[in-house]
Amino acid sequence: MDPEATLEEARQRIEACDDAAALKDVLRDYVGKKGAISAMLAEIPKLDPADRKAHGQKANALKQSIQALAEDRQAALDARELDAARRADDFDPTLPPPVAERGSLHPITQVTRELEDLFVSMGYEVLDGPEVELDHYNFEALNITKDHPARDSQDTFYCDEIGTLVLRTHTSPVQIRAMEGRTPPFRVIAPGRVFRQETTDASHDHTFYQMEGLVVGKDISVAHLIGAMKTLLRGIFGRDLDVRLRPGHFPFVEPGFELDARCPFCSDGCSVCKKTTWIELLPCGLVHPNVLRAGGVDPEEWSGFAFGLGLSRLVMLRHNIDDVRHLLDGDVRFLEQF
Ligand code: PHE
Repeated sequence: MDPEATLEEARQRIEACDDAAALKDVLRDYVGKKGAISAMLAEIPKLDPADRKAHGQKANALKQSIQALAEDRQAALDARELDAARRADDFDPTLPPPVAERGSLHPITQVTRELEDLFVSMGYEVLDGPEVELDHYNFEALNITKDHPARDSQDTFYCDEIGTLVLRTHTSPVQIRAMEGRTPPFRVIAPGRVFRQETTDASHDHTFYQMEGLVVGKDISVAHLIGAMKTLLRGIFGRDLDVRLRPGHFPFVEPGFELDARCPFCSDGCSVCKKTTWIELLPCGLVHPNVLRAGGVDPEEWSGFAFGLGLSRLVMLRHNIDDVRHLLDGDVRFLEQF
């Protein structure tokens, strides 16, 4: 057998192959067990010992050449197939590749983290408290008496028959837990989830977010409260805004206030401030002596201020969201926007 001729014949047959199956068949005829190369190698024992080595080398060289030709042909066939797929009508090679979907932080988480950073920079400690809370911390120690309307089962989710466990209705119980665990002076914030038994509508949900603040020290006054709230406003809205206090009643503060800020979105009235140029920011006040006592702090020696920032409301304000229920319904179309 003439290796040159065999190679030439193999080349022609390989080039004529139109698919992988045909190529495999051709290859079998040459490098397969019963193929031409095997036949060449089988001749070796019959040859003159002096010629054996050269003959074996030729057979191997031929085998390698044929395999290389087959590989080239297979690569050409692959390229042709890919090209055909690209030319198919529904394939547009200029389209960008699919992008993996990415999650993002919930807007409430975002604002919580920003405010935590802000208060930590002012020396506050960030605290957590249980969402299932004892009546004692949620009401009693906060100077909310047994007959107070807030304790009505219409407003509060009770967790047991005897009424000692509730889903906390505000973050204020963390005030008591904070006082119990430390000696003044101290500053803490406590962001978290709170619950109220409400009929839901665009501005009420049964679950929402607040951030409690509590500062206890020597001679803490309303001036300190206003100073801290102005810093808070600068952190949220990025500039100084005037504030005003209106009287507000909460059993755990005395005096108690509603703190309003100048509307950050307009100067002469808009839909956010309902044409008043003021927005309600948060309720606050000086900690009631009974509350200090309940937390083991002597009101003769120490005083404090507390505030309860509505995080859900703040997020709605910031992003111009018209329905509080969007925040928790988990609709990706809503969440994708943040
Ligand atoms: N805990 C009150 C509420 O949820 C808000 C508040 C906190 C008021 C601290 C005064 C001081 O309504």
